[in-house]
Amino acid sequence: MSTILYVCASPRGGRSHSRAVAEAFLEGYIQAHPADQIITLDLFTLDLPSFDGLRINAKYNILHGLSHNPDEKAAWKVVEEYIHDFKAADKYVLASPMWNFGIPYRLKHYFDIIVQPGYTFSFSPETGYQGLVTGKPIFLALARGGQYLEGAPAAAFDLQRPYLELILKFIGFTDIRSIVVEPTLAAGREVAQTRRQEGMARAREMGKDF
Ligand SMILES: Cc1cc2nc3c(=O)[nH]c(=O)nc-3n(C[C@H](O)[C@H](O)[C@H](O)COP(=O)(O)O)c2cc1C
Repeated sequence: MSTILYVCASPRGGRSHSRAVAEAFLEGYIQAHPADQIITLDLFTLDLPSFDGLRINAKYNILHGLSHNPDEKAAWKVVEEYIHDFKAADKYVLASPMWNFGIPYRLKHYFDIIVQPGYTFSFSPETGYQGLVTGKPIFLALARGGQYLEGAPAAAFDLQRPYLELILKFIGFTDIRSIVVEPTLAAGREVAQTRRQEGMARAREMGKDF
């Protein structure tokens, strides 16, 4: 039995296009793998721990080989639990809107918690950076109000997909599959609904083979 971690970064519930596509993907997946388990991490309902001075001290103490005081120890334990839960999954699904050309702040917050040296990536002067989350696939359901087609001038504004691919590759993912729903605003509701339905139909098929 495999476990899928579904990370959802849109707060728009049923109106969200990225969620609709991610959830169609999961429907297809569960049809094909009825015994598997889906764990949902809804980043806008979750009270993510602040990555503040205390936690940064804890992080840097590890980097510098120093021990933690009791407050740092407790603060770092929470980070370790998030990382543990992330790494415990066998497969991943991520739904993300584009916000201000990048990703929603809650998703960046989540990455700031789980992307840690010694846990999700390693570094040595001999081998450089190496991702530690390896051998697991991830499906990205991405939505954006505008359209950022490859090769078009607008593509330079897309810091959502390239950033997600970069950070995920950095921590070890090599099997990154995706569906982009666009434009969800710029061409009106009808186009948005059509793209959403097309995305959901493709996602349902892709989910069966994940
Ligand atoms: C705070 C905020 C910022 C946004 N910034 C952009 C943007 O920079 N570019 C864009 O094309 N759409 C932008 N949008 C529109 C969303 O990408 C669009 O509504 C998308 O469908 C959201 O994904 P969702 O439907 O899964 O919530 C923004 C929306 C919000 C709420």
